[in-house]
Amino acid sequence: MNTASPRRPSAAVPRRVPVGWVHVSDRAKRYVSKVLDSERLSYGPFLREFESRFARAHGVRWGVTCNSGTSALHVAIAALQSRHGWRPGDEVLVPAVTFVATSNMAILQGLKPVFVDVDPRTFNMDPEQAQRRTTRRTRLIMPVHLFGQPCEMDPLMALARRKGLKVVEDSCETMFARYRGRPVGSFGDAACFSTYTAHILVTGVGGLALTDSPRLAADLRSLVNHGRDAIYISIDDDDRRAGLKEVIAKRFRFVRMGFSYRLSELEGALGLAQLEERGPMLEARRRNAAYLIEALKPLEERLQLPWWPDHVEHSFMMFPIVLREGASKRDLALFLERRGIETRDMLPLINQPFYVKMFGDLEGRYPVARRINRGGFYLGCHPGLDRADLDYVAEAFFDYFRRERRGRR
Ligand SMILES: Cc1ncc(COP(=O)(O)O)c(C=O)c1O
Repeated sequence: MNTASPRRPSAAVPRRVPVGWVHVSDRAKRYVSKVLDSERLSYGPFLREFESRFARAHGVRWGVTCNSGTSALHVAIAALQSRHGWRPGDEVLVPAVTFVATSNMAILQGLKPVFVDVDPRTFNMDPEQAQRRTTRRTRLIMPVHLFGQPCEMDPLMALARRKGLKVVEDSCETMFARYRGRPVGSFGDAACFSTYTAHILVTGVGGLALTDSPRLAADLRSLVNHGRDAIYISIDDDDRRAGLKEVIAKRFRFVRMGFSYRLSELEGALGLAQLEERGPMLEARRRNAAYLIEALKPLEERLQLPWWPDHVEHSFMMFPIVLREGASKRDLALFLERRGIETRDMLPLINQPFYVKMFGDLEGRYPVARRINRGGFYLGCHPGLDRADLDYVAEAFFDYFRRERRGRR
């Protein structure tokens, strides 16, 4: 879609195919200028508008901006924990393949992550395995919608209902995608999103926690603001003339342990502009992914390409690939990166040195996660890539496997 990328190749400069991309449109520049002219950077009209429209786009009433997806996860878990009296060592179901922040935030709250193997086709939490890992101490399920693809939510929500569990969707990688016609973020008690670099909306750093519960929303907002009384969150609350006496009394009242996880109006301006312009961006992601799938199809004996069921929409934050047995991920990644094609490991979690130290060698109990840890990686499929970039990527794969067959690279 976008051909204005500053990194167009030339004969002298090798082509670059990064995993992420950011484009600051004229509208975004206009909004950022408005913020600068307003001389107000703290929570204000742009963040408020961004929160409410982002929440509405995901079918829920309340959105609370945070300074990262991780802090959104932290406050969502902390709010539910405090409301429901979870004790240290109570258990949280977390997929065995995800970014470390998902389970780190459970650990930070004194909870025990119980890993659940993932579906070998979608790479998302396997509902049957989730049921098997549920115990009397399970309190929370954290389905993670990876790479832009919603989890299999019906059986996970049915499990939560049957066992009285809460659900926090980690939707940091997935926005504006639907499962059986219903948007991600609208299933759980809360859902968390990231607007960090290379995500679907990019504000540099940032995130949102969404919920349909007004009480939980007030708790989340308070936790993001040092645990303040929710009556006084921003300077605009001084304008509540009718209740000004109460506002004055409670301006500096802290009612719970909280954090400083606020975002500024600058990110609000960037986020709102991108939210308003999301249509073509999402179309380009889906078009690029479809093109890559088609182009790489002849290599399907060697590469497992993205797959999603008909009842799921994919928003393609990234393009995940798992090498089938036999090929070496490290060799292939090196081959691609030498040609300027960025790769990232596909979210290894249970084999992280820090996790092995805490939980021991778990990989033997998680065969699908182990296979992904060995052979999984992802590429970008964002709107900054054009047909020539995608052809270049596909050709690099063909070249690699041709050379492999000939025994040299
Ligand atoms: C699945 C998942 N959860 C949580 C996060 C954390 O988001 P942030 O980097 O904004 O803290 C990420 C970030 O990439 C993620 O991919």
